[in-house]
Amino acid sequence: MAALRDIRNKAIQKLDQTGNETSGLDVDLLLEEVTGLTPMDFILEPDRQIGAQQEADFQTLLGRRLLQEPISQILGRKDFWTLTFKVSSHCLTPRPDSETLIEAALKSISDKKKTLKILDLGTGSGCLILSLLSELPHSTGTAIDISDQALDLAKENARRLGFQERCTFILSDWAKELPLGKKFDIILCNPPYIAEEETADLPPDVRDYEPHIALFARNNGLEEYEKLGKTLPGLMVVGGRAFLEIGHEQGMQVASIFKNGGAKDIRVIQDLAGRDRCIALDF
Ligand SMILES: C[S@@+](CC[C@H](N)C(=O)[O-])C[C@H]1O[C@@H](n2cnc3c(N)ncnc32)[C@H](O)[C@@H]1O
Repeated sequence: MAALRDIRNKAIQKLDQTGNETSGLDVDLLLEEVTGLTPMDFILEPDRQIGAQQEADFQTLLGRRLLQEPISQILGRKDFWTLTFKVSSHCLTPRPDSETLIEAALKSISDKKKTLKILDLGTGSGCLILSLLSELPHSTGTAIDISDQALDLAKENARRLGFQERCTFILSDWAKELPLGKKFDIILCNPPYIAEEETADLPPDVRDYEPHIALFARNNGLEEYEKLGKTLPGLMVVGGRAFLEIGHEQGMQVASIFKNGGAKDIRVIQDLAGRDRCIALDF
């Protein structure tokens, strides 16, 4: 038996030594997972004892975090928008910044009860399409990924969250496997956009644990936008809209790729930190 305070303080100290900048939060999440107690309990009952098995389970999880594994992969889940998604090393962990796409898409839809056809290119965990479907009760989705393991996770999330009847999943290199002539009212896409040259600068919990196919693109991070620039216009209904995530310094370059692709209007939208995060295209 050991007191919560001692376990917690020692764990924070160990994580601090690895350069972890969120040690307190990480330790609380892992302790919460193992004990079922809340961070408030850790403050109000610091002398509370936890059993040997719980302590051993906690040390196992802490060991993984000390090796820089992301908390989301250790816990196997991540909150995004109003939902909780199952995640693993086969998909990108959903990022709060990507909620910018959901907000922008919702703002553009005047009647949420309309029946819209939505496409999500590079669905990963399914976080974008399933979050948008959760706000649009009569709309349907098509979700594509080139990774069958990511697609399996997205399907599982759709089942768990109750969207399996409204969402179809296709294993495909972007739109190549979509039936010819299929068109959409809304397209969401968060493609890989980190330049391969930036690999060494990434934090180890991203570089060593998240799938590289979800992160990196050639040509200074722009290659996938260039491919999408050729494909997207043919997938949109007249009056359709696309929302693509961008790196915060890519706004101008990505806009110029789509200027030649028939978009009538192009806007760059900022995330909550005020950084360019989304490009909105009106067709
Ligand atoms: C940046 S992640 C985005 C995942 C998820 N949509 C999100 O926002 O968290 C990019 C996703 O695109 C997928 N991807 C990469 N290249 C692709 C391609 N050529 N065709 C389809 N999907 C692709 C990856 O497997 C990955 O799941």
